[in-house]
Formats: sequence, structure tokens, C-alpha cells
Amino acid sequence: MAKKNPSFVCADCGAVSSKWSGRCDACGAWNRIEERQALSAAGPASKTLGAARGRRVELSSLAGTDPTPERIVSGVAELDRVLGGGIVPASAILIGGDPGIGKSTLVLQAAAAYARKGASVVYVSGEEATAQIRMRAARLGLSDSTVLLAAETNLRDVLTTLDEDRPDVAIIDSIQTMWVDNVESAPGSVSQVRAAAFELVSFAKRRGTAVIMIGHVTKDGQIAGPRVVEHMVDATIYFEGERGHQFRILRAVKNRFGPAAEIGVFEMTGRGLAQVANPSALFLNERERGASGSVVFAGLEGTRPVLVEIQALVANSSLGTPRRAVVGWDSARLAMILAVLEARCGISLGQMDVHLNIAGGLRINEPAADLAVAAALLSALRDKPLPPDGVVFGEISLSGAVRSVVQSDLRLKEAFKLGFTSAIAPSQVKRGEKSGMNVTRIDDLAGFIDHVFADD
Ligand code: TYD
Ligand code: MG
Repeated sequence: MAKKNPSFVCADCGAVSSKWSGRCDACGAWNRIEERQALSAAGPASKTLGAARGRRVELSSLAGTDPTPERIVSGVAELDRVLGGGIVPASAILIGGDPGIGKSTLVLQAAAAYARKGASVVYVSGEEATAQIRMRAARLGLSDSTVLLAAETNLRDVLTTLDEDRPDVAIIDSIQTMWVDNVESAPGSVSQVRAAAFELVSFAKRRGTAVIMIGHVTKDGQIAGPRVVEHMVDATIYFEGERGHQFRILRAVKNRFGPAAEIGVFEMTGRGLAQVANPSALFLNERERGASGSVVFAGLEGTRPVLVEIQALVANSSLGTPRRAVVGWDSARLAMILAVLEARCGISLGQMDVHLNIAGGLRINEPAADLAVAAALLSALRDKPLPPDGVVFGEISLSGAVRSVVQSDLRLKEAFKLGFTSAIAPSQVKRGEKSGMNVTRIDDLAGFIDHVFADD
């Protein structure tokens, strides 16, 4: 037998070390280091390589043509778009999200939608009994669906069943509850989650079934999160939202068969998730027109334009280190904007508390929001509202220049569609004739201040 080189892995963060210790050096968690199971336990693919020669692998040309597989569509546009136009057969998809955010509801509705389109669907739950799932289905008005249910946690039994039934789509809710009997650690540990995902992904490839796995994102560290299996699956999709808000966002962060960064917007209602066809209208719903510190940002999520309200509040601070509170945006990016305002425009917020909020609970990652954030901060500082019918976008560089952003036409058109009439945008943007918007083009932050706060 080959000599084993033991390695140790933290069940919380997955960091690998060569020796055991009580506390993980990477994340600081106590008593979470466990010896890693030899990978061969997770499947036949990886026996320790010895001196024996392998079999020759067949090489083929890149230029070959294969028939593009027909995608399985659900008919739920918000879901199909995030998946790049439907599920590709034999693909493995991971849907991650906080507990209670609505993952089970989403996949049950998706399962019924696929079944309605004629696909055979098996839903395996390791978290709920079949009676509970039926109750949920009744509440969602899906009782007459042809989806087949199982409440099971033993992955060997699950795979045997799927192997015999060969459904088009199999849903595993959740990967953390699945138990692989030849891996010794407890269900939900890194080794178990990894092994279960490996088996499910291999099954998908082998049998042509599309497998959707749910993974809980947890902070307390009891359960290994979706990050542990992200590299194995074809698509990783996060289901996000704030508990207090009714809408939920499905966001593709990785997709081998479609564009990443695409989003789908849903609203959680008493009867399950409803699609939101026009998210901008939803996000701007409760906007107070003419309030200072409030700016509408013409953003882009994946391929679709989304308008959101950015709110800022600045107040004299009583603290030695003033507060910087950010919800829905990157706090490092806020720090950069504050630094540029100080260094390039002589406007200091160093003694002030700054609160920044993306209304509605959406998370924005686009640098194109820089100018809108700066505008909200300035408007709050001067207590002067911006024109209520205007939108703002543009990236700010460290020199204070306003840089162009992608898809400005799309942003302008969306704003026009929602009743906005003017925009403040980078100077590369054309005059806006096509969109019908009145566009003010600016070169840098100082130019912006001149334009908006000239009479102050
Ligand atoms: P669930 O899908 O169980 O979340 P997860 O699988 O991500 O843990 O849904 C959780 C919440 O959704 C639950 O608190 C109740 C709420 N909910 C509704 O508001 N309406 C509905 O129709 C359903 C089924 C659930
Ligand atoms: Mg659930």
C-alpha cells in the first residue's frame, strides 16, 4: 500500500494544513480541524498514482462539431435567464443561500415548472418529510404536479434510485444533509459535502440527468458552505435577499453554459415566489422625490438595466473615529470615493458620520455607481436635493476623472421608460438623442460639483 501523507483540513473554512492543531490558523475556529479522508473514498477517480502506466486517453480536434444539447426550460423567465436560457442536460447546478431565504420554495416551484413542460423531475429532500413538502406544494398551488418526491439522506440509496429512474432533472435539498457512507465524518462536514457533491456531479455526467443541489450558506461554521463545492459544479447561483424585504434575487456567479452576473428578481408572497418583470419599478417604489441625499443610479445587472435609489446621510460625528455604515455597497469603494472627494475637490467628510444605503436591499457591485454615490454624499452634505427626474452613472478614478461605463444606451433607455428625463453621465456618452433623455456629460468630479452645486 502506498504510504499515506496525512493532511488536515478545517471543517469551517476548508484551509489545509500538514499538521493537526486545536485552532485553525486561517479562520481562527477552535476544534474544527479534522484529518482529510483520502480522496479515493469519495469515488473511484483518484487512487494514488503509482509507477504503473495509465491508459492512453483519446485526443480529439477542437474543430469538431457536436449537436448543441437542447436546454430544459421552465417557462419561468427570471429563472431561465439566470441559467443562460434553461438547464443543460447532464449539468450540475449549485443554488446557495442563507437558511430561510426561500431556496426550497424556489426549487419546488422550479421543479413543478419543469414538470409542466414535460420533463421528469425527482425532488429529494433531506430536510423535510414528504408530508411537509406536500403541504408546501399545496400552499403553492402545485398539488397536481407530476414531480416525484423522496425524503432521504443516504446518498447511496438516492443515487441507486436516480440511476434506475433516470429523471431529466434531480433536485437535492440540501447537499449538507446528504450522507456518504464511506466517508467517516458527520453529515455537513467538509469531507461529506465534498464527497456528496463529487458523487452527484459524476452521476449527472454519467447519466445525463441535470442535478440541482441546494447549499446553505452559514456563518456559524457548523456546516460546510457552498464554496467547498463551487469548483466542481457547472453553475453556481446564489439566492439572496434581506429577511425584512419581500424580494429575492437569483444571481449567477459562475456559469459554464451562460453569462455570469445575470440576475433574476422574485418577490416572496404568501403563495410562493412571484416573478418581478420590472425590477426598477419595484426598487424605486417608495422613493421620496426631492429628498436630499437620494440619487437614482442607472445600473446594470448582467444584461439588464436596473434603476435603484442610493441614499446617503452625513452628520457631525461625536466619535473619535466617525462611523462609516454601508448597506448594499462595498465599504472599501466608499472609502475611495471619500478620499477622492477630499484630495481632488477639497471636500472633507473626515469629521462626519457617513451612512450609505442601497434602497430595497439590492447589492450593487458595479463601479459605475461611483458617481451616483458621490452625488448622494454631496447632496446630503449640502442638504440640496438633485433633480427628481434625473439619473446618475459613471465610474470615478483616483484622479477624480469620471470614466465611461458599459451599456450607457441601455441605462438611458431604461430610465426614459420609467419616466426620467435627464441624466448626468460620463462625457463619452452620446447626447442621448436616441434614448430621448437630456444628458449632461461631465469629465470629472469637480465638473460635476460645478454643474449641480454651482449656485451654492
Ligand atoms: P424556504 O423555502 O423553506 O427557505 P430555505 O429552503 O431557503 O431555508 O422558505 C423560507 C421562508 O419563506 C419561510 O420563512 C416562509 C416563507 N414563505 C413564504 O413567505 N411564502 C410561501 O409561499 C412559502 C412556501 C414560504
Ligand atoms: Mg429549505
